[in-house]
Amino acid sequence: MSHIQNVKTVNTPLMELKSDLICIGVYKDRSFTPGGSDLTQDLKNIIKSGVDVGDVKGKIGEVNFFYYNKRRFALIGLGDKEKVTSEVVRLATGSAIRAAITKKAKTVTVDCFCSELDSCQAMGEGAVLGSYQFIEYKTNSIDSFVVEEVAINGCNDQGLNKGVAIGNAICFARDLGNHPGNISTPTYLANAAEEISKIDEMTLKVFDREEFTEMGMGGLAGVAQGTDEPPKFIVVEYNNGGDEKPKVLVGKGLTFDSGGISIKPASKMDEMKYDMCGSTVVLGVLHALSILKPKINVVGIIPSTENLVGAKAFKPGDILTAYNGKTIEVLNTDAEGRLILADGLSYASKHYDPEFIIDFATLTGAVVVTLGHVATGVMGTDEKLMRKVKESSKSTGEKVWELPLWPEYCKQIKSDIADVKNMGSAGQAGSIAAGAFLKEFVGKDIPWVHFDIAGTAWGAKPSSINPKGSATGVGIRLVLDMLEK
Ligand code: BES
Ligand code: MN
Ligand code: ZN
Repeated sequence: MSHIQNVKTVNTPLMELKSDLICIGVYKDRSFTPGGSDLTQDLKNIIKSGVDVGDVKGKIGEVNFFYYNKRRFALIGLGDKEKVTSEVVRLATGSAIRAAITKKAKTVTVDCFCSELDSCQAMGEGAVLGSYQFIEYKTNSIDSFVVEEVAINGCNDQGLNKGVAIGNAICFARDLGNHPGNISTPTYLANAAEEISKIDEMTLKVFDREEFTEMGMGGLAGVAQGTDEPPKFIVVEYNNGGDEKPKVLVGKGLTFDSGGISIKPASKMDEMKYDMCGSTVVLGVLHALSILKPKINVVGIIPSTENLVGAKAFKPGDILTAYNGKTIEVLNTDAEGRLILADGLSYASKHYDPEFIIDFATLTGAVVVTLGHVATGVMGTDEKLMRKVKESSKSTGEKVWELPLWPEYCKQIKSDIADVKNMGSAGQAGSIAAGAFLKEFVGKDIPWVHFDIAGTAWGAKPSSINPKGSATGVGIRLVLDMLEK
């Protein structure tokens, strides 16, 4: 969770502030962010020694501490003054908060890093994300430290508060992802959805095994056959946009993926607790909406179950019928995400008249091979929507890369005995085959984009805003940016 109690803006000369830590930005040319001009000559001289001995270079990621008159200061590197993007601001603010946590500083002031840019939102995001730690299972509480107050000097209030709300939503999503499979179950996700949807603008429906099976969700029912942990089909509606068409988000909520009868190798199988990170994009976005309350309509849909082995488990060769009536030949029970998403996408297409559908899933190991832990693989049917995705990717720094859904690939998932099969040609374009499969369950003419976040939902290179061994909460910033435009 986030380890900050309160973030606010102030407009006070830095030397007058009594915080336990005061952070100032420094650029490559060794000039400071505006608050630096308030420093006393004595302190400037001390800092100059730091420059002279070569510690202060103004590089991104750099943190140097200075002490003066029983007070603690940190210079946070921002790189080239002309190249300060909102991503740089986010990372640098994260570094400032990590510095505060290292020094156990309860109150921190950070001089606004935004230069001419309006990146106050990024400062809010960076502050909250920089404080994120997942230590709930450490019984030794020495590791736990909460920063009581972060004061951002000279920032725009509205932008900062929005960033804090988004940061908190991402922390919420990371927690859901980081809890192990024996805690973060489908029931746990349904409870999280219930918690969010307590506001007037939201309604919640949760279908249990008996209900969704009766409704015809053969994909989810098939995958859930092998587990006693109760599966759920979760639907949250956020209605605050009058009669405009809803934007529909669908997320894979596979709370543990053993592979089923087509079982996975033991090494790294523990990581499959993260296989519900698609659903946490949806829940994280809804969390932010519940605070920010924009005037739009959004629907979040989460099919959720475990994929286990057992006497009742579904088998290779089985044929399932999805919610839209299409039949699926199961060639590999480990390609289960697309089976539960088939029902989610069909439900979205049948019960709503969406402006668009976007889905999020840790869907294929192949996307990790293709794009590593750097970019999310995206595929879709609508150029305009894809353009929007790419624009929001640029403005939020959450990288995406488009893969083609050409007819040659789409043919690969046709089955000889059913309508479709759940995998393409082994070892070939696996992420695209999965996308081509999903396309079969999206209503005709509904703009749709699929996000394969298997590489980006966890395992990313650690940074000041992304601790090692944690879910990242990737996708939430991008979607919120898209919803706003
Ligand atoms: N959850 C996995 C995808 C995954 C694998 C995510 C590794 C992150 C790291 C998904 O359910 C899966 O097992 N996909 C199979 C599909 C294959 C059997 C067609 C895969 O990618 O191996
Ligand atoms: Mn699988
Ligand atoms: Zn999976």
